[in-house]
Amino acid sequence: MSKIVPADLKHITEAAKALQRGELVSFPTETVYGLGGDATNDRAVAAIYEAKGRPSFNPLIVHVGSLSAAAEYGDLSPAAVTLARKFWPGPLTLVVPRRPKCRLSLLVSAGMDSVALRVPAHPTAQALLMLSERPLAGPSANPSGRISPTTASHVDEGLGDKVAMILDGGPCSIGVESTVISLLDETPTLLRPGGITVEEMAAVLGRTIEVAPQVGDIEAGLHGPGRLLSHYAPDRPVRLNAASVAPGEALLAFGPNPPQAKIMLNLSATGDLKEAAANLFAMLRELDRPDVTGIAVMPVPAEGLGIAINDRLTRAAAPR
Ligand code: TXA
Ligand code: MG
Repeated sequence: MSKIVPADLKHITEAAKALQRGELVSFPTETVYGLGGDATNDRAVAAIYEAKGRPSFNPLIVHVGSLSAAAEYGDLSPAAVTLARKFWPGPLTLVVPRRPKCRLSLLVSAGMDSVALRVPAHPTAQALLMLSERPLAGPSANPSGRISPTTASHVDEGLGDKVAMILDGGPCSIGVESTVISLLDETPTLLRPGGITVEEMAAVLGRTIEVAPQVGDIEAGLHGPGRLLSHYAPDRPVRLNAASVAPGEALLAFGPNPPQAKIMLNLSATGDLKEAAANLFAMLRELDRPDVTGIAVMPVPAEGLGIAINDRLTRAAAPR
């Protein structure tokens, strides 16, 4: 039986109680759906890794309701506070030193002395944080390595049997995950491009931001344990920068003049990157059909949100 329920007050209250009992609940955020568990409960956090099949060296984001809640768990430098004031609530995750005696499970940090914190903007996520009175560990609600969910039914397909309930808040408005930036060193370092661009952050900080090199194996080092190259993977192979479509291929188009294809979806016919980001994961899933041999993807400009889109597409196309 499906665990999808509407994200109304009654169900959010039920979900909050389930979280307090150590159960897992999937909730919508403005980026993608999260797989939530009480971040102070070792058993709940362990259950998240287990449900996703996530390698234990890949730490989880902790969602909190406010900047002051974040400061209970992480040491926020002046740069961290500046970014938080500007972009929270919103699609930005700050990696900061963990407060030594904070009550977060050590598992959320995968053994490191840092923690990734985010205040989501989605009203359902906010209400859940408030009613559960817990910080919530929340990776994207997909089996590890697969495409992130942007609707409740995506969650149901991948992890339906692993959660107490799935709060349905409709499709996610941004559609790609949050930007992850590390403030552990003097120079802020981008670990994952996402909903907030490097340019936006650099402008607010008044300084340049380093970009962590992309990694293809688990020797990702301290900063990017989650930066595995193959990720967001559909079953069918993905071919990037396609100018034409081979027989049997489906086309993921971008812009007004796509080449002819029997099976085609357009990320944005007007070439709008926001629209493209919001459509990206749902369209990749839809084109991942047994009757196609592969998914050809037209080039998407590598600027603004296009950086995050290209990051996810590169990973979807990476050898596995
Ligand atoms: O938009 C999002 O960020 C979504 C929604 C649900 O909030 N969550 C999400 O979580 O994408 P997840 O677990 O799929 O991705 C978290 C990323 C991973 O790449 C992980 O390696 C990185 O953040 N991360 C978490 N804690 C970290 C830490 N202490 N140091 C470095 N990277 C960290
Ligand atoms: Mg993820």
